Amino acid sequence: IAHGRPVRAPAWWRGARERLLDAAAAGTPRYVYDLDTVRERARSLRQTESIDRCYYAIKANAHPQILRAIAAEGFGLECVSLGEIERVFAALPQFEPARVLFTPSFAPKREYVAAFERGVTVTLDNIEALQRWPEVFRDRPIWLRIDLGHGEGHHEKVRTGGAAAKFGLPMSRFDAFVEQARRLGVRIVGLHAHLGSGIDDPQHWRGVYAQLAGLADGIGTVETIDIGGGLPIAYTPEAAEFDLAAWRAGLAEIKAAYPRYGLIVEPGRYLVAESGVLLLSTTQVVEKDGIRRVGGDGGMNALMRPAMYEAYHGIHNLSRLDDADTVAFEVVGPICESSDVLGRGRPLPRATAEGDVLLVADAGAYGMVMAHTYNQRALPAEQILQEGDL
Ligand code: LLP
Repeated sequence: IAHGRPVRAPAWWRGARERLLDAAAAGTPRYVYDLDTVRERARSLRQTESIDRCYYAIKANAHPQILRAIAAEGFGLECVSLGEIERVFAALPQFEPARVLFTPSFAPKREYVAAFERGVTVTLDNIEALQRWPEVFRDRPIWLRIDLGHGEGHHEKVRTGGAAAKFGLPMSRFDAFVEQARRLGVRIVGLHAHLGSGIDDPQHWRGVYAQLAGLADGIGTVETIDIGGGLPIAYTPEAAEFDLAAWRAGLAEIKAAYPRYGLIVEPGRYLVAESGVLLLSTTQVVEKDGIRRVGGDGGMNALMRPAMYEAYHGIHNLSRLDDADTVAFEVVGPICESSDVLGRGRPLPRATAEGDVLLVADAGAYGMVMAHTYNQRALPAEQILQEGDL
């Protein structure tokens, strides 16, 4: 314990430097994932006694081997689109459909139809869908996603509760939904809430469970309560590690108070963020008006999070990892947008030069899945560390 909080273990990539440099030589931008880190994170959640099932939110990272590794740890898989559902069955043809949870937002009717045909578990989050498409939902079991009235999370853009957010049935329509469902023979067997992403307070989830359990008691058909994902990771050097012990204790306590329901969590980031790094090759080093900039061959096209949320990712010069003579650099990409900045004021070796390999840390969640081809730049390559060269 240093400064009263758990010491963070050195990141896996520090021990894999040579292999990562070899991987970068095969072409950059390139994401590399360490499956051992994914498994270790998955196990740390599975070892939580009060949790009956974990789902992995595959939107965070849908690499087939990551899906297989997490499924092998006993997780269900949460999907937000038919494309994600198809991705699951392509990677895992034998996967039990009921262990796939479909949690769409404003999806077209045909995606609900297809999900029921596949036998996956379907979540609904508005009454209008029931009213417009009764034939799709009649006599079906569903989970209901509730908006508990407030959003949480690391940035305004990832908060998914409250009037400003498009997600979830507001409490004001709860009774009407339950009534409409009864009329159609729709059985509400699950209640669901996901209030946002990157939530620091470990007691957030117990509060969600308590609120949903209160509602479930009034419905009578509910078996399962899904308290969402949103577990954070420590991106900055100053951030404390998420207090998993406090999180577990809170869940154990609330589960004991409402033991009737199966308790489900559905994290994405927590399982995969630290497993991935983005490797870039340095293109140019330029000084302008007192700011020293280093360009990577990928920027916001390869990793959107800094441009979209001002998100912080550690950036290291893998070619000169032990060079202690550092100066502040702004790290930018090759895209024609002023928002194409991966980091500002970052200490990097003064000697940083064209052809060096930059490593962007904690890029395993919402990295590759949000990459795009703006400016006609190619998507990054992806590989699993354990595979060696692809
Ligand atoms: N369940 C639902 C219904 C969700 O919408 C999400 C994420 C999750 C679970 C998983 O959340 P997680 O455990 O990963 O926080 N692109 C943003 C995050 C967007 C999250 C969208 N929904 C970012 O890079 O921070």
